[in-house]
Amino acid sequence: MTNRILAKRELAPQITLLEVEAPRIQKRWKAGQFIIIRPLAGSERIPLTIVDSSAERQSITMVIQAIGKTTKEAVAMEPGQALCDLVGPLGEPATINTGQEVVCMAGGVGVAELLPVAKAFHEAGSRVTALCGARSDSYRILDEELMGVADVLQWATDDGTYGFAGNVVQLLLSIAGPGTFTEGHVIGPIPMMKAAAEATRGWGLKLHASVNPVMIDGTGMCGGCRVTVGEEVKFACVDGPEFDAHLVDFDELTRRNRAYREMEQEALKHDCHIGLG
Ligand code: FAD
Ligand code: FES
Ligand code: MG
Repeated sequence: MTNRILAKRELAPQITLLEVEAPRIQKRWKAGQFIIIRPLAGSERIPLTIVDSSAERQSITMVIQAIGKTTKEAVAMEPGQALCDLVGPLGEPATINTGQEVVCMAGGVGVAELLPVAKAFHEAGSRVTALCGARSDSYRILDEELMGVADVLQWATDDGTYGFAGNVVQLLLSIAGPGTFTEGHVIGPIPMMKAAAEATRGWGLKLHASVNPVMIDGTGMCGGCRVTVGEEVKFACVDGPEFDAHLVDFDELTRRNRAYREMEQEALKHDCHIGLG
């Protein structure tokens, strides 16, 4: 059976790892690329980053934060069941240069998306400092895996229960300044990516942001994932999802991502009512 779930593991509250049989994607994907899944026949399509793969198990791994109807449907599935659709690898791979002094920054479930990028920089011979953020100690994920690929790994927690007390950008400013890093990658909530871009403007740092607009088809046809980058209009599913962080219009991205909020909340409510019979 294709798209079969081989393993499932809860990494933190509401954050679940799924390993799925996907022999063709496993062979071709590169760090920074994503898939679009439809968990059940009646589900909508959602993009998820490819986090890891195994040639031996012919599988890929994704890490899902259950925040709405479709992500909840996905994490409710169990090993042995198969995802209805799985398309990929999609998007352009992340920019990975060799011999750089790299800072990789992530917040929340973005930490999972950062792992393959940090690994790729490490394998290309760059020195990697990974700065990761979580709400609290119990929300930290993939710590061991990141330690295996980063030269330096530091955590920031909002409530100070582990590592630096504060957010990832505050952590960055406490350890670095202009010239400390030559290249960087940032992924996570939009306010965090925007703050990282603002904080490092003028540092001489090439900062790449992996952006997360609403995607529908993932093939550049629907226009749903439009992002303004400098003077240009880009489609994150085919031109990205990674762009120059100092040029992305994060305010527009925020507005566009909120466009369906009412319907998303309605879909969740509807889900609960079904549960109540
Ligand atoms: P909803 O309640 O429908 O939506 C909650 C919020 O999620 C929305 O306000 C909107 O901001 C966003 N969203 C909703 N629908 C979509 C959509 N079709 N496409 C993109 N964003 C949407 N999440 C993970 O947990 N793990 C990942 O590895 C991951 N990788 C991503 C890679 C890319 C390239 C992109 C664009 C997004 C990624 N996301 C990832 C975010 C994930 O796609 C959304 O959380 C998910 O689509 C929410 O769907 P929902 O129905 O559960 O929630
Ligand atoms: Fe439709 Fe990108 S998701 S154009
Ligand atoms: Mg949804």
